[in-house]
Amino acid sequence: MSTETEPATTTASTQPPGAPAAANPAAGAAGQFHFDPDSYLELVLAEVPGYARLQDEVGAAAATTRGPVTRVLDLGAGTGETSRRVLAAHPGASLVALDESEPMLAAARRALPADAELVVGRLEDPLPAGPFDLVVSALAVHHLHAAGKADLFRRVADVLRPGGRFVLADVVVPEEPVDVVTRVCADHDRPSSLLDQLSWLVDVGFAATVRWRERDLAVVTADRH
Ligand SMILES: C[S@@+](CC[C@H](N)C(=O)[O-])C[C@H]1O[C@@H](n2cnc3c(N)ncnc32)[C@H](O)[C@@H]1O
Repeated sequence: MSTETEPATTTASTQPPGAPAAANPAAGAAGQFHFDPDSYLELVLAEVPGYARLQDEVGAAAATTRGPVTRVLDLGAGTGETSRRVLAAHPGASLVALDESEPMLAAARRALPADAELVVGRLEDPLPAGPFDLVVSALAVHHLHAAGKADLFRRVADVLRPGGRFVLADVVVPEEPVDVVTRVCADHDRPSSLLDQLSWLVDVGFAATVRWRERDLAVVTADRH
């Protein structure tokens, strides 16, 4: 496994994508950042130029799975933007949406079907029990260090059914510094290169494909054998 690559450059910011300026004091000493659900969408649209396209690409990648999708896990679900698009592709599926932020999940509660299961939890901890047909994660995995990402990918493979799909959408370290366009903060955001993440996915048995890439954003499909 290769080592984590730090961003060549970052845009000037002391906050993670989608973080309101006034919320900075909420960044805890433990290194967690607490997003404000009320301002999240407006700010993430301003700070992640490719946000809307990224979400659409996740929806499209989630729509082309092998076999039926009856159970979906969204990791770092936030206010439910990604979950909503995935459920639009699989209207009958049941959803488990995990996030460390209770306020973000409270906002997701209002946006998602009443039977969606919302779980307050961390990506670093054991995942909700599988099997899932589909696991998605948008703009959340970059909060983990390299080893944490690789460990998460192994645990995602464990909760997916054979033939199931993981859709990973995130900010990455681009090859060219000029492609750094998403606001990242060294305290809370730890993007890795796309190549590193593809190799960690392959290491745990996924067939990984870059489905979409623009500047420092990417969507990868990782299919379990
Ligand atoms: C930028 S938001 C993305 C939300 C949603 N996926 C989207 O695309 O709009 C990142 C989310 O990941 C959550 N998050 C960050 N680090 C986390 C961790 N270690 N474990 C669980 N959730 C985490 C945050 O609370 C936040 O809701």
